[in-house]
Amino acid sequence: DSNRTLLVLPGDGIGPEVMNEVRKVIAWMGKKRAVGFDIKEDAVGGAALDKHGLPVSDDTVKAALEADAVLFGSVGGPKWDTLPFEKKPERGLLRLRKEMDLFANLRPAKVFDALVDASTLKPEIVKGLDIMIIRELTSGVYFGEPRGIKTLPNGEREGVDTQRYTSGEIRRVCAVAFELARKRQNKVCSAEKANVMHTGVLWRDEATKLHKESYGDVQLSHMYADALAMQLLRWPHQFDVIVTDNLFGDILSDEASMLTGSLGMLPSASLGAPDATGRRKALYEPIHGSAPDIAGKGIANPLAETMSYAMMLRYSFDLSSEADLVERAVENVLAAGYRTADLLTGGLDDKAAAAKGLKKVGTQEMGDAIV
Ligand code: NAD
Ligand code: IPM
Ligand code: MN
Repeated sequence: DSNRTLLVLPGDGIGPEVMNEVRKVIAWMGKKRAVGFDIKEDAVGGAALDKHGLPVSDDTVKAALEADAVLFGSVGGPKWDTLPFEKKPERGLLRLRKEMDLFANLRPAKVFDALVDASTLKPEIVKGLDIMIIRELTSGVYFGEPRGIKTLPNGEREGVDTQRYTSGEIRRVCAVAFELARKRQNKVCSAEKANVMHTGVLWRDEATKLHKESYGDVQLSHMYADALAMQLLRWPHQFDVIVTDNLFGDILSDEASMLTGSLGMLPSASLGAPDATGRRKALYEPIHGSAPDIAGKGIANPLAETMSYAMMLRYSFDLSSEADLVERAVENVLAAGYRTADLLTGGLDDKAAAAKGLKKVGTQEMGDAIV
């Protein structure tokens, strides 16, 4: 009943749990705002392995390539951890990213006022923070060849992964960073390890060249990724947009999530290059995983998935006022004191939380509160 096509892939663990809450918001948008989708749903990760023996089927990849957007939950879990490499649930997600050519992964870390005390860092360090990490997503050590495990003539086993980047791959993701910075605080910090890695040298070189050629109006700085990991905790306000490679971006964004209070707060948008009509292939996913330790308990935080949906409205469908609405709902619900367990850090037990006016809620209650 709509010309917007959406593929929903809930996946494993808490993926389906948090996706169920987003369904409520999708339904609300359809009813109250006439923002409808033609929705297809499919299995991915462990769920797909159980169904047809592959972490993602060719049909699902085809559907993802055809859809206007994909909304993804999370994949993986102990049940599938010992499978051979190519059969792991995580390969399903990696194949989707690669075949959809989703090279730019936008991971915003925003500190909501109501959650200033939820962070493990001091309030004055995190208050008002709004940074955007842009992670290269389809190359680097995640995909470089050669890779594998083999037995050497001396009987030892050797594991190999290859960090590899081309100048084009670096330039296209840096361009996304510069473009986004122009709409924000106009600052990009590029992170690599040019002191010890050839890919780091190339990365710094290409970022510098592209900056000089086309983005001289944007402030560019460079930092070694290890130092950046430290600076993120020391004084995160120095950053606006951070652009970095696939592995560093994976690690730094999990780190950044704790500035906001929880890993359950960070959404993401994985974007491809615009086609002739300006449309980008896109997949939206929280940065967290399937959280096997809390799966099935009904306590997962659905806000990262909810805000991933908001990013989808903004980036794939140009529905920025509807995206604002969803983000404002998140803000309001947090201001009203609703907290899933992950947001009650700092040794707050139920009683202490209640004394502060905080309401400990499960996944479904949080979803209802958003609606
Ligand atoms: P994880 O992100 O699943 O969990 C790390 C910690 O954060 C856990 O203690 C978990 O309970 C907590 N957490 C994560 N999301 C939460 C949420 N929404 N609400 C409350 N708490 C939350 O990472 P992990 O434990 O290292 O990995 C578990 C599995 O997930 C692995 O199989 C891994 O490969 C996979 N994984 C998948 C994705 C993805 O699908 N995009 C991302 C990361 C990890
Ligand atoms: C993420 C995850 C994935 C990654 C895994 C599940 C493939 O950690 O999306 O951050 O390493 O990219
Ligand atoms: Mn990760």
